[in-house]
Amino acid sequence: MKKVLITGTAGFIGFHLARQLLRDGFSVHGFDGMTDYYDVRLKQRRTQILLQSEGFAFTEGMLEDDALLRRVADDVQPDMIVHLAAQAGVRYSLENPRAYIDSNVVGTFNVMEIAREYAVQHLLMASTSSVYGANEQMPFRETDKADAQLTIYAATKKANESMAHSYAHLWDIPTTMFRFFTVYGSWGRPDLALFKFVDAILEGRPIDIYNHGEMYRDFTHIDDLVRGIRLLMDAVPERPASPDNIAENDTLSPVAPFRVVNIGNSEKVRLLDFVEAIEAELGIEAKRNYMDMQPGDVPATWADTSLLQSLTGYRPSTNVRDGIAEFVAWFRDYYGK
Ligand SMILES: NC(=O)c1ccc[n+]([C@@H]2O[C@H](COP(=O)([O-])OP(=O)(O)OC[C@H]3O[C@@H](n4cnc5c(N)ncnc54)[C@H](O)[C@@H]3O)[C@@H](O)[C@H]2O)c1
Repeated sequence: MKKVLITGTAGFIGFHLARQLLRDGFSVHGFDGMTDYYDVRLKQRRTQILLQSEGFAFTEGMLEDDALLRRVADDVQPDMIVHLAAQAGVRYSLENPRAYIDSNVVGTFNVMEIAREYAVQHLLMASTSSVYGANEQMPFRETDKADAQLTIYAATKKANESMAHSYAHLWDIPTTMFRFFTVYGSWGRPDLALFKFVDAILEGRPIDIYNHGEMYRDFTHIDDLVRGIRLLMDAVPERPASPDNIAENDTLSPVAPFRVVNIGNSEKVRLLDFVEAIEAELGIEAKRNYMDMQPGDVPATWADTSLLQSLTGYRPSTNVRDGIAEFVAWFRDYYGK
């Protein structure tokens, strides 16, 4: 039985991934600091659900505590590590940038150290579409230059990609970095638009619509994202024999077993259409509060997913109406609203 150490299992994506891997027969050890960036009760509930599976064990701890991480790795002897724990959120990074340096730079370094020490077969870590920053060429391709990050959140994730490349090269750690595009679905994050919109609309509060609605996002449903991660776990990068062997759209490093892969829906959805789909699902019209663009925000994201498809044969395809319906059903049931 393969043993996987997942960081961030009390979080939105880590919870769903752990659940899927447990269904697939993996032994999963979760690690999470249960930070209070958003409602800790949601994190506790996700963890309680995972603990109902025999194949799941959990350690509460911070990534910055390298001695604890090492003890966990020593105990688990993981075949693979999926590192999802992070200080997430674009907007909060303007308020509390240090949390991003601590969790994402120091924390990720500590995870890389245990990947090296325990010679894992594959290290997979979360980056973000935010690394494309000020890029205007759409859809975003992994081979595009991406050097203009607009927030410290995005900068820490770009730094993670760079740090991971060096460790993949030096210590021969096969490493895949995911660039996730706005993930949504049941058990989703309270700080993200869909959760905030549904909650506010149901309570009759106005919703803030940034850039007067002229925003576009590539919304990725959590089930599609988990499927993409699961398939990429088996697409272990190998150090190329020669740079000539690398396909044109591949980000495989010429010198290291390392690649970066977008996971998105490859569909650009206008924010106002997204809001209308939520209204239609709830049967309630939203009170709209049109606002200017927020500092650090980007007007659009849109993923080219041809690399994911060529590596795994899989292309995410959940349409946003179905995805919203799935979220709303969970939200109403969970919060009894
Ligand atoms: N959800 C999205 O739309 C999205 C998009 C792009 C990238 N990502 C990335 O995907 C990953 C998972 O995101 P998510 O949406 O599940 O976020 P989340 O906030 O729900 O989950 C992250 C988890 O990490 C834990 N954590 C944070 N800092 C920690 C630390 N220093 N030590 C230990 N645990 C810590 C938190 O308690 C939380 O449970 C993150 O790396 C995030 O940056 C998410």
